[in-house]
Amino acid sequence: MTERIVVGISGASGAVIGVRLLAALRRLGTHETHLIVSASGAVTAAQELGLTRGDIDRLADVVHNVRDVGASVASGSFLTAGMVIAPCSMKTLASVANGFADNLLTRSADVMLKERRRLVLVARETPLNLAHLRNMTLATEMGAIVMPPVPAFYAHPKTIDDVVDHTVGRILDLFGIEHREIARRWSGLADEFASRDEGAEQ
Ligand SMILES: Cc1cc2nc3c(=O)[nH]c(=O)nc-3n(C[C@H](O)[C@H](O)[C@H](O)COP(=O)(O)O)c2cc1C
Repeated sequence: MTERIVVGISGASGAVIGVRLLAALRRLGTHETHLIVSASGAVTAAQELGLTRGDIDRLADVVHNVRDVGASVASGSFLTAGMVIAPCSMKTLASVANGFADNLLTRSADVMLKERRRLVLVARETPLNLAHLRNMTLATEMGAIVMPPVPAFYAHPKTIDDVVDHTVGRILDLFGIEHREIARRWSGLADEFASRDEGAEQ
């Protein structure tokens, strides 16, 4: 059976990360994707990307209604490899960190923590207040991985897509999903300078 992965999109800036993650998972074909989009997640996707719910839903294998707390992914007996919330708003982070499972997105994350499954929170806000920081600590103490979508300037990104793909690649790494073409890997400073010298000679 193909493994399953739950992808949540909440209302933080950066809907493109969740969208490109879904597209990458579809291309790679390693996992059956289960999508949960919060109401605010749909708003930010429309505002930032001009995408409708239908556009996003088409990228997933199974789509769940965020209000359907009785869905398969609300139970630990429904086996999954884990869950990514990308982007993760500070509100959703607060719910996850405090076990406040009031919708399917936060309930599913709660399930990941209680079943000790992988939970990656692509938490996006800046600057951060003390509640945000404390909630990140709480989530980390329970086993979640807090992964803010911070650009890696050493990778010399040229476009926003480069920045996003780097984050998507790192998310896939956390699930051990092979993705050679999505993001270039660092192979040491010596290699970096050598490839730059080669470029200069050409
Ligand atoms: C365009 C837009 C951008 C937003 N960006 C962020 C953000 O980067 N981080 C954040 O925590 N909230 C952000 N918000 C606010 C959240 O959408 C809001 O707190 C919402 O209640 C989150 O709900 P959810 O976690 O259920 O998706 C943004 C809202 C809008 C409309």
